[in-house]
Amino acid sequence: MSERFRFPDEFLWGSAQSAYQVEGNNYNNDWYEFEQIPGVIKNGDRCGESSDHYNLFESDFKLLRELNQNALRTGIEWSRIVPEENVVNEDELEHYHKVIESLRKNNLTGFINIFHFTIPIWLERKGGFLKTKNLEYFQHYCEVLAKNFPEVDFWNTINEPGVVPLLGYLYGDFPPRKKSITAFAKVYRNMIRAHAIAYRKIKEYNPRSQVGIVKTMPYFYQKYHSRLWKKWIVSAMDFAYNQVMFNALNKGKLPFVPFSHHKMIKDSSDFFGLNYYDPVFFKFKFGIPLETDFKLPEQSETTQMGWGIYPKGLYEDIMRVKKEFKGPIYITENGIATLQDEQRQKFIVAHLVEVHKAISEGANVKGFFYWSSLDNWEWAEGFEPRFGLIGIDYKTKKREVRESAKMYGSIAKENGISEDLLSKYEIENPYKTNITTKKDLVI
Ligand code: BGC
Repeated sequence: MSERFRFPDEFLWGSAQSAYQVEGNNYNNDWYEFEQIPGVIKNGDRCGESSDHYNLFESDFKLLRELNQNALRTGIEWSRIVPEENVVNEDELEHYHKVIESLRKNNLTGFINIFHFTIPIWLERKGGFLKTKNLEYFQHYCEVLAKNFPEVDFWNTINEPGVVPLLGYLYGDFPPRKKSITAFAKVYRNMIRAHAIAYRKIKEYNPRSQVGIVKTMPYFYQKYHSRLWKKWIVSAMDFAYNQVMFNALNKGKLPFVPFSHHKMIKDSSDFFGLNYYDPVFFKFKFGIPLETDFKLPEQSETTQMGWGIYPKGLYEDIMRVKKEFKGPIYITENGIATLQDEQRQKFIVAHLVEVHKAISEGANVKGFFYWSSLDNWEWAEGFEPRFGLIGIDYKTKKREVRESAKMYGSIAKENGISEDLLSKYEIENPYKTNITTKKDLVI
């Protein structure tokens, strides 16, 4: 093999999924209810049996291991554990014990997600995350997990604390379909509080577990705008969506509350989980950034989600996290929805090259999780988008190992990317211009 972009020893090569998106047969949370409303989900899809991972997890894990992955980010479905107020379902605890044990048997380091967008119906009826008092119920759920799963080494607290406030409370595309800026701000604050609650609870019972936030950071492309005032507005939007998270972790600040300082929130993450998919571009009308595009104006190639492909954004994001956060970084999600698997292969290599570049410049990135392990339920987009390394036939539940899964597996096995792969997909070598010796290619 030619010279390769080697990754640090013990790098985690994994993929990611969430409980509700793959398990199937979840009928007790806000998403199940939401999906019954006509017109809210593309093509009228319903999550239903989804990929039936609840029943097939053992063979799925075996397959992922055979594909050389050594880690998996997956989750626990809150509404299974606490189906009714003050009721804990022991059978479901047992189920997730089996899941976690199976990860261990297959040598997959588990990153276990506590909250990934869904809440039990009974709690939704009480006002969900809009009511700060309801965080008591979240605390109880975290305590149940902390007590029952001491074997978990890595926990993810809240998946993307900005997304439910934005899509559920400001744009109204997710449950509970609210459109209110004050609700957005309130729920964002409660998500941050919930993160801190989860962190403290798990640490109280299992101090050696590593517990961290997972934050999505679309790349806010300020540079693109030539006018200073537009750049300023874009950076204000970036502040409201992204910077608030760093301010919470570094200074204990709650979003949009000047001078707040909460000891419980400050330093409440052992690692930073970074999710990255695309750039964000604001179209201005009457001086206001009225429309959001998830691609840059000149980009013609998009994914099934309509998102532009901009690998450098991942590099920029990692370097920003490096500056703002002192601990290790994991890329907890990065992936593409496409019907062309070749496009997926290129996407993966192009993004990994940027991860490598960031590492070579000192970023402490310790793992990468491709989104997603399996094709799955893509929320309001239903089943159409195909993110999986492993394809699913939703009728038969048959698994199809895509070429990209094999390619990703060979990168994992080699713990590096060969230059042949770069040439194959015509990806620019980011080091080309300043390589002086061959050693410059490796870390
Ligand atoms: C979420 C996933 C989702 C993915 C692709 C992430 O923001 O964590 O649940 O499927 O993006 O849209």
